[in-house]
Amino acid sequence: MTDNAAQITLSDLPLRPELQGKSAYGAPQLSVTNQLNTNENPYPPSEGLVEDLVAEVRRLASTLNRYPERDSVELRQELASYVTRQTGVTVGVDNVWAANGSNEILQQLLQAFGGPGRSVLGFTPSYSMHPILAAGTQTEFLELPRSAVDFGIDVDAAVRTIEENRPDIVFVTTPNNPTGGVTSVADLRRILDAAPGIVIVDEAYAEFSAEPSATALIAEYPSSLVVSRTMSKAFDFAGGRLGYFVADPAFIEAVMLVRLPYHLSTLSQAAATVALRHSDETLATVDALRDERDRVVAALVDLGYGVVPSESNFIFFTLPGTGSGTSSSAHEVWQRFLDRDVLIRDVGVPGHLRMTVGLPQENDAFLAAAATIIGDFT
Ligand SMILES: Cc1ncc(COP(=O)(O)O)c(C=O)c1O
Repeated sequence: MTDNAAQITLSDLPLRPELQGKSAYGAPQLSVTNQLNTNENPYPPSEGLVEDLVAEVRRLASTLNRYPERDSVELRQELASYVTRQTGVTVGVDNVWAANGSNEILQQLLQAFGGPGRSVLGFTPSYSMHPILAAGTQTEFLELPRSAVDFGIDVDAAVRTIEENRPDIVFVTTPNNPTGGVTSVADLRRILDAAPGIVIVDEAYAEFSAEPSATALIAEYPSSLVVSRTMSKAFDFAGGRLGYFVADPAFIEAVMLVRLPYHLSTLSQAAATVALRHSDETLATVDALRDERDRVVAALVDLGYGVVPSESNFIFFTLPGTGSGTSSSAHEVWQRFLDRDVLIRDVGVPGHLRMTVGLPQENDAFLAAAATIIGDFT
């Protein structure tokens, strides 16, 4: 731009009113040795996967002048066999839809089932993109707080709230991010029985949990249940951006009305298909991460921290005396970890912080920092 071009800021733009004053979502991406803030799998993809991926990209490179296969059928077939193996529930290609991360999956669902005059209920604290996606689609976001002790859902209160407010969409995140606990299949049934619209069960962390997947309920609730999942967490593929949902085939027809044409690139489809063919070796890391999670939880408790039970690859914890404190005290503690080269997450819940379980040496660095920091508070 020329030097004399007028400088404007965001507030000079004719932004939609509900976006004015909002900040963009995003965990800090800082250069630190121990990056334990975004719930990825810390193990790099296997050599075999990398080699197959490179060969596939080489094969496809000469076809990139053409648009990708629009409905990602081959990839959806691979996803369907993976879900069938992982959940024990037989799922076919017509039950699975894929997009660029489960964020895009959730956005497509809100575009199709939310919108002006409609509402979505969430149980908070939960995944912070749910209200942002609601705002982006002009869907009213209603919230029912989770228990202040274990951050579980009070299902009686949930049923009452659903009956009173009749939301078009209900979000249940299980295991819940950032708190780590699960909602049982029995409780999901009660929520599904009460819901007048659709229920999106966000199972981004399902592979880390022993709780059965909600996919088992799809046959019983074909017109209301959608299970959203991702390859970004246990599946070790966050950079590949691949999320999917499992539901009755009618839901796929619905999102086809709002998805962008060719939304999944040839390279994304191919890379995810290759990764799925290596799922056994990738998912072997899940057991190691669960063991590390249990080790870190035990060590944090020994040090005197409070820990919320987790069935995921992250731990929501609190310092003694700060559980009911202000979020600034959590932020101060977050900064102390960062000063020790450990990046964790301040999710804005007063007195609480979240750490992602990393490689053993990263967890050791986190625990060493935790031991020093608690000394300052006791
Ligand atoms: C509960 C939950 N759902 C969905 C996502 C989105 O993941 P992605 O878009 O990488 O699939 C995340 C990511 O942190 C999450 O925690």
